[in-house]
This record gives sequence, structure tokens and C-alpha cells, in this order.
Amino acid sequence: MNAKSFESEEYWTERYNDPQQRRGQLFDWYIISFAKLADIIGPVLLQQFAVDDHDENNATNAILRSSPVALIDVGCGNSPFLTDAAAYVKAHCRSPLINEKVFIGTDFSEVAVLEQSQLLSRNTEVENMQVRFTHADARMTIGAEESSVAVVMDKATLDAVDCSGNEENASAVVSTCVKSLVPGGYFFSLTCRPAARRTETILRGITTSGVQCEHISTVSLNNDPVSPSHLLIFKRSAE
Ligand SMILES: C[S@@+](CC[C@H](N)C(=O)[O-])C[C@H]1O[C@@H](n2cnc3c(N)ncnc32)[C@H](O)[C@@H]1O
Repeated sequence: MNAKSFESEEYWTERYNDPQQRRGQLFDWYIISFAKLADIIGPVLLQQFAVDDHDENNATNAILRSSPVALIDVGCGNSPFLTDAAAYVKAHCRSPLINEKVFIGTDFSEVAVLEQSQLLSRNTEVENMQVRFTHADARMTIGAEESSVAVVMDKATLDAVDCSGNEENASAVVSTCVKSLVPGGYFFSLTCRPAARRTETILRGITTSGVQCEHISTVSLNNDPVSPSHLLIFKRSAE
């Protein structure tokens, strides 16, 4: 397998169709699940469901609360991240918005989307919530209107998109993601690439998008010298 294959839809569809590759089962790349990120991403997700108008982030919350889409997991593959995040929200707040806002997983492999949809139909943890999976090439769309999403998650997807160094594709994906954010919305990127290089890629995509977005922080997730992983956090300006 050469690095370029990670960028092609054919590679991923063949992989998701391969019985040796855990077909029909969920799998998290880098062995990092929503549970491992819950302390960081959980409070940000919950912020948009806040019912208390008197906290210090009141202005931001008002915009986040009005977003129709709670979370998009871009390049969701067969990861349980989206459904785990929705289940976390259901377990942690009683906001009436829980059943109104949409959680969307997108991927350019139709096989992954179909599998996720089949697994979702048997998932009772997120029953009555608006969770769905859609087919989309993130270079063009992530399945939501511009300025409509509170949180976008890239979990190992940019690492696949620019595997052979294709900066243009990576910029296009970042641009689509940040344009979809509501003002005050968050873009998270989980990567195994050097954090400085990934930050540069994302900042280039943000410039291409024309959207005001700042780098909030980079969180180191492990001390593995061979494959360190980082979570990069960006936030669209409240405007
Ligand atoms: C390394 S896997 C990560 C899967 C999942 N996010 C996880 O953490 O387990 C990369 C995923 O990105 C998807 N992908 C790659 N390029 C894409 C693109 N241009 N648009 C949408 N999905 C893409 C692939 O089909 C694959 O499912």
C-alpha cells in the first residue's frame, strides 16, 4: 500500500469491504475514542446545550445554541466517535435541544456510511436523537450549510487526505470545515503528524476559507515517541 492510496475513495471502500478489516465492526484510528477526549471535547459540546443564560460565555452560548447542527464527524469511517459523543450529550444534560440538534457523520466511502447507518439502527443509546450518516467528499461539502455547525471533528481524516503531501486537498477540507462553523464554533483536529506541521496546514486552509478562526491550543495526548498524537483546537471568531 502506498501513501497515496489513503487519499483515494477506492482505497477506503476496498478496505471497508475487506472481511479481514473488521467489516461490520466499529474501529477508532490511533486507538483514541471519544471517551479519551471527553474531558476536552465534552464541555465544549455541552456548552451549546446550556440552559443557564447567566454564565460568562453567555454571548457565545447564544450563537452556539442557535446552531442547527451540534457536531459533524468528518471522515467518520467506521468509528463510534459520533454516536459516543451523542450518547455523552444525552447522559450529561437535560436540555430540550437534545432532540432538536443534529449529529452528522460524513465520509466519501459509501460503504462506511451504509455500515454506520446499519449499526445506528440497532443503537439504543442514542434513540430519539437526530444522529445520521451521509455520503460527502469533504473537499467540497461536509453535509451542512455554511455557518450552521457548533463543532466539527477531524479525527485522523486530514492525516489521510494529505498523506502524500497534497496540501491543496487538505486546504480544501479545512476550508469546508471552518466555513460550516457558526461564529464561536470549534474545529478539532486529531493528528499523529508533527503538531507544528498540522497547525500550518490548518492555518493555510483557514486563510483559503476567508473565515476568521484562531488556534486556541494544542493538547498532547500521549508520550509515545514513535507515534505521538495531538489534538489541535481552533475556534471561529464570534464576529
Ligand atoms: C484514517 S480514517 C479515520 C476514520 C475515523 N475518523 C476514525 O478516527 O477512526 C480516514 C477516513 O477519512 C475518509 N476520507 C478520506 N478522504 C476523505 C474526503 N476527501 N472526504 C470524506 N472522507 C474522506 C476515509 O474514507 C476514512 O474513513
